[in-house]
Amino acid sequence: MSETTRTELRQEVDKRRTFAIISHPDAGKTTLTEKLLLYGGAIHVAGSVKARKAARHATSDWMEIEKQRGISVTSSVMQFQYAGKQVNILDTPGHQDFSEDTYRTLTAADSAVMLIDVAKGVEAQTIKLFQVCSKRGIPIFTFINKLDREGQNPFELLEEIERVLGIRSVPMNWPIGMGRELCGVYDRMKNQVELFQGNDHSTIEVRKVSDYRDPVIREMAGDYLADKLIEELELLDVAGDPFDYEKVKIGELTPVFFGSAVNNFGVQTFLENFLQLAPPPTPRRSTDGPIEPENEKFSGYIFKIQANMNPAHRDRLAFLRICSGKFQRGMSVRHVRAGKEIKLSQPQQFLAQDRDIVETAYPGDIIGLFDPGIFRIGDSLSEGSSVTFDELPTFSPEIFAKVTIKNALKQKQYLKGLDQLTEEGMVQVFRSVGPFEDTYLGVVGQLQFEVFEYRMKNEYGVDILLSRTPFQFARWIVADKVDPSKFRINSTLVKDKNDNDVALFENEYAMRTAMERMPDVKFLETAP
Ligand code: G4P
Repeated sequence: MSETTRTELRQEVDKRRTFAIISHPDAGKTTLTEKLLLYGGAIHVAGSVKARKAARHATSDWMEIEKQRGISVTSSVMQFQYAGKQVNILDTPGHQDFSEDTYRTLTAADSAVMLIDVAKGVEAQTIKLFQVCSKRGIPIFTFINKLDREGQNPFELLEEIERVLGIRSVPMNWPIGMGRELCGVYDRMKNQVELFQGNDHSTIEVRKVSDYRDPVIREMAGDYLADKLIEELELLDVAGDPFDYEKVKIGELTPVFFGSAVNNFGVQTFLENFLQLAPPPTPRRSTDGPIEPENEKFSGYIFKIQANMNPAHRDRLAFLRICSGKFQRGMSVRHVRAGKEIKLSQPQQFLAQDRDIVETAYPGDIIGLFDPGIFRIGDSLSEGSSVTFDELPTFSPEIFAKVTIKNALKQKQYLKGLDQLTEEGMVQVFRSVGPFEDTYLGVVGQLQFEVFEYRMKNEYGVDILLSRTPFQFARWIVADKVDPSKFRINSTLVKDKNDNDVALFENEYAMRTAMERMPDVKFLETAP
């Protein structure tokens, strides 16, 4: 690799910011995404992303199930440029029914933005997504949204973030009033106030001040709000965590920004701070040790496969996160698991609504590869060597259903479908160990069942029947000898597809009791 190419690669890596927004439905993710894209010039009209959310079912190349339910089953990627940075936003399904796909998408992110509704605080889906990010130790930035509405006291929110999520926080700005009283925010890092002006809060005035005691704030916000601000910030200065970038980088401290996405309030400041603080692509773990993004050899891994983008062709799109080197259209790479060279000729890149053919791409970028059925989730592609990335954890299923086929004559197609769809990571499969071989499917989101049922019928011609079971937890058992009779009350013993023993429990109490009764047995959340 020439010196010029190496410098170019380093510059391109430095520019990249690849992140996901994690939130509970309705917190304002679509709205925030849209504002960010507007700043980046990736879209020009407010409402385009919202319209896309609503109109998805009108586009022909989305899965039938998306059309039927008007929701996004799979995630996509949006790219734009801002202030010299190349930003990749990984979109995760906003619907309550998220799936393992959502979790896997998070592995492709280098940082996350956690969006919280000021009135609702930390909600269920946010907790789950946070935990996945937290396990990876990536930086997490918090945006507390809907400040124009009456919400919880900011101190209580910070306390809740710490108590529920176990992460310390450092407010980068602080609200001056809230709801109807909302007047602006005080930027603690830059010592400036950003004030709403006019009845509709449409204009924002930014003023440098000496500190939060500056009389200018009193003039602008009035005595009551100025006194409150001083009181709160004095408390924060004494009792709050100081900003510590080293802790931010390892996900132990989350910088918090207050704002209102729909009013475009605090969004630009957030974006600018975020782009400065969020890390560029970092080394990824592999069988050859960590792979630096500046490594000249191209490499990446597939974190998602989107089936049936075009039902007429049965094609699939495999989403690849580039981990190192420069991608060039038409290049030959090694498909490590299959042990063969393949040519990447029709890659696609994503920019807001459009899908374009991509000529070059760099670490941190996500490209979509046309997949005639050769890829699986977790596959690594690399130039020259056989690097395998170790990025895709499995997740412990939380919802289980017994699956049966309606027509016994379709057994062969059923087994083929079951095999392929579990390989693909669509669902996890378990078999009972008793005299009757029952088959259970385990997922993290109800939607995975629906997509499974749909694909079984459409791709394999098999009608299946799914009956929900009361199980809620799966634990992989590591023991010298496993006694099935110990798993009869509110639990059952099954085997996973690799013949590992797995106990399914109906509730936490049953699980705890089993753990206490069998201290020599190890109960693991995912397969060993
Ligand atoms: P999601 O993708 O996280 O599910 O949320 P989305 O952006 O669709 O926002 C959910 C609702 O919250 C929307 O209202 C949106 O306008 C509103 N919202 C987003 N940001 C703010 C904010 O800063 N302040 C206030 N007050 N509301 C906000 P909706 O009524 O469901 O939709 P719409 O009729 O406004 O489109």
